[in-house]
Parts: sequence; structure tokens; C-alpha cells
Amino acid sequence: MANPYTLEQYVADLRTITAQETDPEKITERVEPLAKKFAQAPGWMRPEYRECDAEQGFGVHLLHEEPNHDLAVFLISWLPNRGTTPHNHKTWVVVVGMEGHEQEDNYERLDDGSKPGYADLKRNGAQVMTAGYVARCYPEHIHSVWNVGKDISMSLHTYGRHINYTGRSEFDPEGKREKPYVVKVADEHARA
Ligand SMILES: [Fe+2]
Repeated sequence: MANPYTLEQYVADLRTITAQETDPEKITERVEPLAKKFAQAPGWMRPEYRECDAEQGFGVHLLHEEPNHDLAVFLISWLPNRGTTPHNHKTWVVVVGMEGHEQEDNYERLDDGSKPGYADLKRNGAQVMTAGYVARCYPEHIHSVWNVGKDISMSLHTYGRHINYTGRSEFDPEGKREKPYVVKVADEHARA
């Protein structure tokens, strides 16, 4: 059997791609097949990656980030009927579904962002991610994620930069509010 695709190899490939490309569309296009290959590679999954934070509704497990917080790879586990508020990322994203059923709702921003704390969003369709499904997001893309299955769901998230260091936002579509979005990251398990 061929050697499995390791986290170290995946991160080395991410470094190569981001050294050659700056356009998020080109980066995510090249990262997509590699993220899928790593998600499906044997040998790196640990039981603790299934742990969810009961308060937050999901567990954010950091597999890798560069010393300057770029190239962050997370395994995120979601409790049933829990998820996120609508949010942006302010960096590129590639998500690979690994287990369960995660619904991604997409939003369009109608205002120009010039009024601090204000945002007018319109929901623009949704899709359900299952194992092997890949979603690519660009820095200003706004979406929410919700575990619509009966069991824990899991997905592999690769970001151009650790999401707590991009200055991104979460949104309240009904109240038309925007505020800073920082997630709770689980204790470190492993790093490349
Ligand atoms: Fe997201």
C-alpha cells in the first residue's frame, strides 16, 4: 500500500501553493483535491477530535497553523442541531465533509458595509454537506453551518489564516447587526 498523505505533506503542499498563487479562487481550486485527499487519508484521526464544546455547539480542533497564524487546518465536530451564526472569514476556506449532515446556508450582503455594526443580509439558498463534499469560500463570503443530522458531524477546514486572527465578523440577520467573531479552540492535540 502506498504511504498515506500526511499532515506534514499536506502543509508542505499548502506552502507551495500559497507561495505561487495569491488569488483565493486559484488557491482554493488547487487546495480542494489535496484537502479531500488528506481528509480521506488514514492515520491522523484521533478520538478527541470528536469532542464538541457543549456551550459553543461545536469543537474546534487545531491540527496546524504557521507561527504567524497563516495556513490553519482544523477538524471541527458539531453537535446535532447546533451550528454557527452567519459569518464571514476574511480569508480563503476549503471545507471537506467527513461525517454526518451539515447544512450550509449562504447569504448575500445588501449594504455597503460603511455603517459600523450594521449589516443587511439576504439568505440565498442552502446545501447539505455529507462525506466527501467540498465547499470553497472566499474572504467576504457569508454563510452559516448547522448540523442537521441526528449524530455528531465532522468536517476538515483549511483556512489561509487562523480564523481568530483575520478580524472576521458574525451577523444577526434579523437584528441587522455585525460584530467580531472569535471561536473557542480546543486544547492543542497535535501540530505539524
Ligand atoms: Fe465558515
